[in-house]
Amino acid sequence: MKIGVIGVGYVGLTLACLAEFGNNVLFVGRSADKINNLKKGILPVYEKGLSEIVKRNLEAQRIDATTDYEKMKETEIIFICVGTPSAEGGAIDLSQIKTVSERLGILLKNTGEHKTIVVKSTVVPGTTKDVVIPILEKYSGKKVGGDFSVCMNPEFLREGDGVYDFLHPDKVVIGGYDEKSSYKVIKLYSFYDSKIPRIVTNLNTAEMVKYAQNAALATRISFINEIANICEKFEVDAYEVSHAIGLDSRIGSKFLNAGPGFGGSCFPKDVKALVSIAKTFDVNSILLDAVLTVNKTQPHRMVGIAKSTLGSLNGKKIAVLGLAFKADTDDIREASSIPIINSLLKENAIIKVYDPQAMENSKKIFGKSVGYCTSKEDCIKDADLCMIITEWDEFRKLDLSAIKCPIIDGRRVLDPIKAEQYGLVYKGIGWKNN
Ligand code: UGA
Repeated sequence: MKIGVIGVGYVGLTLACLAEFGNNVLFVGRSADKINNLKKGILPVYEKGLSEIVKRNLEAQRIDATTDYEKMKETEIIFICVGTPSAEGGAIDLSQIKTVSERLGILLKNTGEHKTIVVKSTVVPGTTKDVVIPILEKYSGKKVGGDFSVCMNPEFLREGDGVYDFLHPDKVVIGGYDEKSSYKVIKLYSFYDSKIPRIVTNLNTAEMVKYAQNAALATRISFINEIANICEKFEVDAYEVSHAIGLDSRIGSKFLNAGPGFGGSCFPKDVKALVSIAKTFDVNSILLDAVLTVNKTQPHRMVGIAKSTLGSLNGKKIAVLGLAFKADTDDIREASSIPIINSLLKENAIIKVYDPQAMENSKKIFGKSVGYCTSKEDCIKDADLCMIITEWDEFRKLDLSAIKCPIIDGRRVLDPIKAEQYGLVYKGIGWKNN
């Protein structure tokens, strides 16, 4: 099939995988620089294995990229994958969705062929039906259903593991305006093993599934963080508790790691957007509000532990290991490192930072207020205290014999027994805080 993809962030780009199954994929983006780079196989984001897929399919002429919407006239299915950031007060900013819908409406007007428009961007329930479709109809002068089809097909990709998740989904959710709309997309995904459930729903349900899923995962994290905060008071190890409760098949073990809170471009934004849309309809989202509150306070717990370890932080040298919102990415959006470092700076601590990937992005946030190190060893050298904020693998291999200062490990990447053997003060959220 001939596929158009609007938006070249990690969600849009991961659709390059469709070319692996013989489809032709045309990427459309606003930035000429990004598009020209993409045509050379240089991607604007890092996703494991993706650049190889793009390069292979560029060579096979199954992938192309352009800034010209008109070129999408040749495609059958067009995916909308533009960003939906948080607006003021946490509501969703649909401006890019609206602009793209207008341009697609004009495209539909000027083409005689039946096209299927698929919203893949994360949008609050009601958006495809009440915002996208009316704009498409207005600008095309055509009717959804008869003249063109519309689907909502949420993604469940983890940043950094997008290719794996795309190729091995737990499920495929397809919300269709009508049966004809869903049929085309079901056919596109026929390369998936037949055992992978296809959930065919209406548009609003597909949108809600995405939010409910991210909200459920975020809730688990805030839940275990709250449990961890209580565990500390009884000298109970929250990681042991997580492990034990995770063995109950009704609970399961994933997303039960306590720490300085969830970050990234999805959980914080999506939970806020859900709370905000619920409020618009007079639904008081007590639980989700609490999830956000726990998450907001959690990074400051790291600072609290630092204070109880060193007393005043004034003039103290603190080594911060890990800035990205999670391992294997250079993304620091909403990362816990940001409130932690800002808070340490307020206490007049002297901060040195190191992250294997996120140094460049961090410089844009912290500027000259922190010192940037080229290695973990360089960062820890001479420090009064070391904080681990991101669970990078290379931090698991820290040479404990070379460390002289206390360590506050927000992700429990080290082995407490080993740390004790080296005589280290080793603390963290959910097991020992003073
Ligand atoms: C998340 C979801 O996992 C994806 O399924 C979804 O498609 C994506 O959002 C999205 O909406 O596009 P992502 O934001 O890439 O993916 O990152 P996660 O791996 O889910 O981690 C999110 C945050 O939760 C990180 O800051 C991580 O450190 C934190 N986390 C995760 C914990 O604090 N504890 C855990 O046990 C797990």
